[in-house]
Amino acid sequence: MRIFPDWLLLATALLPLGSLAAVSVSSSKLADSNISITPTSKNFEISAVSQGRFVTSADGTQIFADARGDPSKPAIVFIHGLGISAMSFDNVFNDPLWLRHVFLVRYDTRGHGRSDKPTTAAAWESQRIAEDFDAVVRSYGLHRPFVLGWSYGATHITDIMTFHPANYLSGIIYDAPQPRTTDFVFSPAVAAVAPGFTLTSNVTDFQATMIAFLNLCHPALEWTFYLACLGDALVQPRAVTEFLFSRTQSSDELFKAGKEDGSLPLLAIFGGDDQNIVKDLVLEIVEGWKDLSIVTIPGAQHFTFVSQPELFRKTVLNWVAGILSH
Ligand SMILES: *[C@@H]1O[C@H](CO)[C@@H](O)[C@H](O)[C@H]1NC(C)=O
Ligand SMILES: *[C@@H]1O[C@H](CO)[C@@H](O)[C@H](O)[C@H]1NC(C)=O
Repeated sequence: MRIFPDWLLLATALLPLGSLAAVSVSSSKLADSNISITPTSKNFEISAVSQGRFVTSADGTQIFADARGDPSKPAIVFIHGLGISAMSFDNVFNDPLWLRHVFLVRYDTRGHGRSDKPTTAAAWESQRIAEDFDAVVRSYGLHRPFVLGWSYGATHITDIMTFHPANYLSGIIYDAPQPRTTDFVFSPAVAAVAPGFTLTSNVTDFQATMIAFLNLCHPALEWTFYLACLGDALVQPRAVTEFLFSRTQSSDELFKAGKEDGSLPLLAIFGGDDQNIVKDLVLEIVEGWKDLSIVTIPGAQHFTFVSQPELFRKTVLNWVAGILSH
């Protein structure tokens, strides 16, 4: 296990990125175009325009995906957290310093944002979640991408690894993660508001829950971003939220890839000021992972990449460069 203390993090952040040559790219040229999202009973009747594409998962569910940068560069697929959407990674995807080094891909996981929001039990089996990722990988022609799961989004990596060998990915990045649906690694403050997530009987209490939760994620979000996150909560049927909490998965294959086979590298990032995640509970889950790097970003809230965008970028890109160089 490699643990980066803060001083080492700051030192490595200054190192050049090895083989990842700095080439400037225009983010607007190397991006999906704007498409229409038309209301259907499957997407909860939303009607909008957004930059991205729809990819079709194995069970027919339409998944909204979006990519930026040069597809010949190493790819990182970002998976957002519970109740919000890929929109939450805007500050990363709009940052040309990321695009110099990597191809960025993100998608609204089923039940979220611009994607379809199925409410049958069959749609929430572990394999369906893995198939959504596969559809994104195929659509962009990705070869052994890195995958980054933020918060509850990290649970999807457990599904992905259940249906693929370790070498399907180049590495896993856990960012302030909940690695499995079957654990609860959140703080008592989150536990206190959690029952309100699935509330359908009282609009006032539901609103109060979402606001309290978002305040815990970061106490000083820029207003339009704050509203966008709350809007994501509003476009999710509560029946979907129920499945997100209750769905089951196995972590056997994930652990085999990391703890027995040992070929799958894992970077675990934590926010030094995260009010949501109990770091020690996550460390218990990843204990025994063979190629493990742990970084705690000083001053970072649960939204690590919003709190400390530069340290976050350097942490991820330095680690990716290190993995690719051996
Ligand atoms: C999509 O539309 C937005 C808003 O009109 C615009 O700023 C953006 O440049 C468009 N993107 C592409 C790739 O056409
Ligand atoms: C909703 O909850 C609030 C606060 O808990 C309470 O004051 C209100 O009476 C509730 N409304 C209904 C319709 O139950």
